[in-house]
Amino acid sequence: MKTTKLLLPSRQSALSQLNRLLKMPKYASAKYYILTDENTSEHCLALLVSKVEALQESEFLEIESGEANKTLDIASQLWQALLDMSADRDCILVNLGGGMVSDLGGFVAAGFKRGIRYINIPTTLLGMVDASIGGKTAVNIGMVKNQIGFFHQPEVVCVDPDFLNTLPRKEWVSGLCELLKTLMIGDAELYASFCSMLKADTPVLGNDVIKAAALIKTAIVKEDPYDTGLRKMLNFGHTLGHAIESFSLAHDQNPLSHGEAVGIGIVAETYLSVKKMGFDKARYDELASLLSSLVAMPAYKLKDMEELLSYVYADKKNADGEIRCVLLQAIGQAAIDVVVGDTEVCDALMHLAKIGK
Ligand SMILES: NC(=O)c1ccc[n+]([C@@H]2O[C@H](COP(=O)([O-])OP(=O)(O)OC[C@H]3O[C@@H](n4cnc5c(N)ncnc54)[C@H](O)[C@@H]3O)[C@@H](O)[C@H]2O)c1
Ligand SMILES: [Zn+2]
Repeated sequence: MKTTKLLLPSRQSALSQLNRLLKMPKYASAKYYILTDENTSEHCLALLVSKVEALQESEFLEIESGEANKTLDIASQLWQALLDMSADRDCILVNLGGGMVSDLGGFVAAGFKRGIRYINIPTTLLGMVDASIGGKTAVNIGMVKNQIGFFHQPEVVCVDPDFLNTLPRKEWVSGLCELLKTLMIGDAELYASFCSMLKADTPVLGNDVIKAAALIKTAIVKEDPYDTGLRKMLNFGHTLGHAIESFSLAHDQNPLSHGEAVGIGIVAETYLSVKKMGFDKARYDELASLLSSLVAMPAYKLKDMEELLSYVYADKKNADGEIRCVLLQAIGQAAIDVVVGDTEVCDALMHLAKIGK
């Protein structure tokens, strides 16, 4: 597998490191195309171009933000735009944005002239700790997410938390939930300090936590680049989280973001971990209280269960007729493919309404 250069903040900012890296001979003749959405054009592009000299002569491509635009149609428009600008096989696509831009841009890079190099510069917290790393690229088909895609590793991932200064609160919460997931499967010590930070009167997220989560994801991807085993751990909170997300999309006027739904899914799957894996109950109570201060827990009724279960079964991970979850024995000890029964799922989902009451 091609290895990705991961640039993380250290004594030098990640953008300064990128500036130096792109002066190396192997990048000297490359032409750059920077892909943004309207928000990252407004809030992030000037900072990038001011810090990275090699990008000052770039061409620009802008798409509309939002999951609804992560489509084959938009990818096709981008391929046409690259051809119109005479992009060649040596060019480099620079994805400046959240997971939507990096998933779509990675997909475009994977397909253009049978694969060109690309650089991910995540601008959301979720992008920094998760989506920009690992080489999974995708577009959606209709309402179904990530159905068409390639594994195509980025040349460089540049994680610079300076981009987070303009991130809206909803996107922060979304990223915090995915960050929590990574720490819960990967690092008990950091998880504990992250929880203390969230409980503080004025929580401040340190760069060290972002770095650690990016490194945990990188290590998991290195072990299992094609998602056949260990990488499934990253689905903690997602089996029920995806169903909660679909239910919200179908019923709520202001639907939950992916990360918010995953936050609720983490609570439900940790509840199942207490019931089935001996996960510490006091730890669960602390987590449930923390997450319910970030995201309101849904109050499902019995009549909602049939629909919620249908979403759980529609998930590609449960295609063999059994519900499989990643559950935890303890923080940092995940078990993949644990079979969970319908009644247990319903109990975990109904239990959410009692949290904080
Ligand atoms: N490939 C993977 O491994 C992987 C993993 C997890 C998620 N994903 C994908 O990631 C996507 C979600 O990513 P996301 O949560 O980053 O959402 P996003 O990319 O849709 O960004 C969320 C919103 O924030 C705006 N934004 C981004 N950066 C900003 C900034 N610095 N300041 C102000 N506004 C900013 C965007 O324009 C958008 O409106 C989904 O498509 C999901 O499928 C992929
Ligand atoms: Zn996710």
